Amino acid sequence: MKILGIMGSPRIRGNTDLLLDEALRAARGQGAETEKITVDKLKISPCKEDYACLKDGNCDIRDAMDEIYPKLLGADGVIVASPIFFYGLTSQAKTLIDRCQALWARKYVLKQKPPGSGRKGAFIAVGATKGEKLFEGSILTVRYFFQTIGVDYAGDLLIRGIDKKGEIREHPTALRDAAELGKRLAQGTP
Ligand SMILES: Cc1cc2nc3c(=O)[nH]c(=O)nc-3n(C[C@H](O)[C@H](O)[C@H](O)COP(=O)(O)O)c2cc1C
Repeated sequence: MKILGIMGSPRIRGNTDLLLDEALRAARGQGAETEKITVDKLKISPCKEDYACLKDGNCDIRDAMDEIYPKLLGADGVIVASPIFFYGLTSQAKTLIDRCQALWARKYVLKQKPPGSGRKGAFIAVGATKGEKLFEGSILTVRYFFQTIGVDYAGDLLIRGIDKKGEIREHPTALRDAAELGKRLAQGTP
């Protein structure tokens, strides 16, 4: 069981990072192998929309995505973790997701099946405000991303009202809930 965590915050050891670490730690506790991709540390170009991927499902931009595509396709579980920036994912997370248009082309244009079935995905998000619709746009993005890479949207952890770096440690349940999500993902039942 391999679990891949995509850490979309630029703030290392911030709220998203701490939540994702808890989820991955708990997954390892269940015997899973885990890997965290801190997107902000990598060089990933935005999608250039030249649609080279329509030919054979491969992007013609050479950068860190070369190593991320096989990881996305080889994981049994994928966690997308991002703070909310302007009611959406961070540009770091969104850039990685947009580059998966190449995988969209494989599935929907070239009619190739994404590898494996029963792969599960989870979404962790944190925002400062308390608005009812705070996570709606991001959930849609992550759902469509998971559909593209052949992963079921199996659960999420959405935390409101957290702003300062590391403030998540003061939340009554969030870190425990993140661990529970990671544990269940590793068990295949989030
Ligand atoms: C550029 C930017 C945009 C933000 N937009 C929102 C927003 O639309 N809604 C919200 O509730 N919080 C917003 N926030 C606050 C962050 O979501 C919040 O501080 C979060 O806890 C940061 O998590 P992190 O420590 O993992 O980066 C924004 C923060 C930044 C820097």
